[in-house]
Amino acid sequence: MEIIKCKNYDEMSKIGANVIISLLKRKPDAVLGLATGSTPIGLYKNVIIAYNNKEISFKDVRTYNLDEYCGIERNNIQSYYHFMNEKLFNYVDIKKTNINVPFARNEFVVEDCRKYNKEINRRIFDIQVLGIGNNGHIGFNEPGTPFNQETFVVDLAKETIVTNSRFFNRIEEVPTKAITMGIKNINNAKTILLLASGTSKAQAIYDLVNEEPNTMKPQTSLQNHSNLIVICDEEASSLL
Ligand code: GLP
Repeated sequence: MEIIKCKNYDEMSKIGANVIISLLKRKPDAVLGLATGSTPIGLYKNVIIAYNNKEISFKDVRTYNLDEYCGIERNNIQSYYHFMNEKLFNYVDIKKTNINVPFARNEFVVEDCRKYNKEINRRIFDIQVLGIGNNGHIGFNEPGTPFNQETFVVDLAKETIVTNSRFFNRIEEVPTKAITMGIKNINNAKTILLLASGTSKAQAIYDLVNEEPNTMKPQTSLQNHSNLIVICDEEASSLL
């Protein structure tokens, strides 16, 4: 595990973006696993700057997102699909057909999970971008998820619903279920790039580095990955 401690969010975002930018320069047809949340927004901004400077192109890039809320339509502004368009896809030359964000229809959950899982297992991800939940979740793999879990629909932890309610008008509007790549899928990526910012992530980062791997701390599943890069700002690394 490589841990890069940064001064602040901006520095974390630039260093994180540089990992993606150098990958795309080296491999223009890379397969990227992408994440949502407030943490990677700065990374995406820096990637867009590099695209505008003609350093990189997304013409041959394929992307697969980690997760999506259930019961929210694609065009809903709370959907992760909308988030990705707003934060990255609308500003680069990626082909619509190369964008993959999971989607689970209520009546066809099992089928939709199987389909997405099959699709991601066909690919070798060059990199998987990750944020981390305050409770250590990765994607939406909440504490207690087995390390061999593949794409599934999860009941979100109470803590996650409360944390994510900051993006909604009322807590009752926060979906209680989500489709997510499983821990096994995440760990299949060649490189994992985990970003963390703020004091609310400090304990989860401490546990990532110091706890024995155990399913109650999903982030500890990453410890045995051969190419894990953790980029933290000062606050997130304050307990290390
Ligand atoms: C969300 C997402 C995760 C994300 C995490 C942290 O619920 N499903 O993929 O990493 O929570 O979010 P943030 O970056 O906003 O702190």
